[in-house]
Amino acid sequence: MKEMRIEESGLSRELIETINEKLTTSGDYYKNISDALEVLCQRIGAVKGLIKLYSRYDKDFIQDIVWPEGLSTREENDVAQRVLDCGNKPYFHSRGVKDGANHPLMGLPLLNNDYPLGVAVFTGETYDGLRVFLQNDLHNYIPLLIVPAENMLLHRVLIESYLRTIESLAIALEAKDNYTIGHSNMVMAHSLALATEMNLNEASLDAIEIGALMHDIGKIGVRDEILQKEGQLTGDEFEEMKQHPIIGEQILVPLKHEMMDLPRKIVRWHHERMDGSGYPDGVKSDVLPIEVRIVSVADIFEALTSDRPYRKALEIKEAIEIMKKMVPNHIDGDIVKTLEELML
Ligand SMILES: [Fe+2]
Repeated sequence: MKEMRIEESGLSRELIETINEKLTTSGDYYKNISDALEVLCQRIGAVKGLIKLYSRYDKDFIQDIVWPEGLSTREENDVAQRVLDCGNKPYFHSRGVKDGANHPLMGLPLLNNDYPLGVAVFTGETYDGLRVFLQNDLHNYIPLLIVPAENMLLHRVLIESYLRTIESLAIALEAKDNYTIGHSNMVMAHSLALATEMNLNEASLDAIEIGALMHDIGKIGVRDEILQKEGQLTGDEFEEMKQHPIIGEQILVPLKHEMMDLPRKIVRWHHERMDGSGYPDGVKSDVLPIEVRIVSVADIFEALTSDRPYRKALEIKEAIEIMKKMVPNHIDGDIVKTLEELML
């Protein structure tokens, strides 16, 4: 049996990481911990703050929260690691460097009872200021970070376990139906090219990337003999096949995050038509977001221009001619026009 890897399954590691990153750096949990870090830095006179969240499952730091927004430095990371290696004891480094000048660094464990949530590293403006303040008032202020850190960690664990489920489904779908995954990758590429050409914003491009890759994930719930049938589907078989957008949407429902709203619509509505004659809901163009309409066009174009068991791939020109006849009832004319400009 062919060895399956996530890189081949369409839901690439990079994409999983992108989704993870977006889901964990937006929303209330991230804002709460960022706000708490900012307040704390201002109270203790730190010029920079870093929280590194720690996962017992991974036995490693899994996320940075930095104030002011930016990246952590190697020195800060070394201090955080030192705190961890010393059994979660505070660690003071007097000769940290920031912007070419000497600044002290203080690493403090974030503990809930004895359970490590992470490490906070503060960069002081002056040597004494930070040290004296932290030594005197530490116990009053660090608890401010505990609840937001714990909430953020729980949120992150939930997201990661859900993403792992999606990865598993993608691998399972690949085993079941090899065609779908390659097809989804191509639909994603065409959709992103169209969306970029049509000047859609970053949020739309992200939604299209996820939605296009997952648009047929619901085929996991369609029987093999239907998915792999080489001839024409019977009426009943087609009815079962038509369930895949609904199943796909249900797969994504538990990921309750606003950034998944559009991908869910793409998955559910990619077989809808402009005049309302599509499935599963029969919604019309006024309800279908541009992102959904783009993926629909890319889906049809990709299907026409790739080899299928029952026919050879069509030439691009021929495919676009067929698609022009599907305007305006089935697909969006502006998108087909953009496709023609891009492809011919
Ligand atoms: Fe589909």
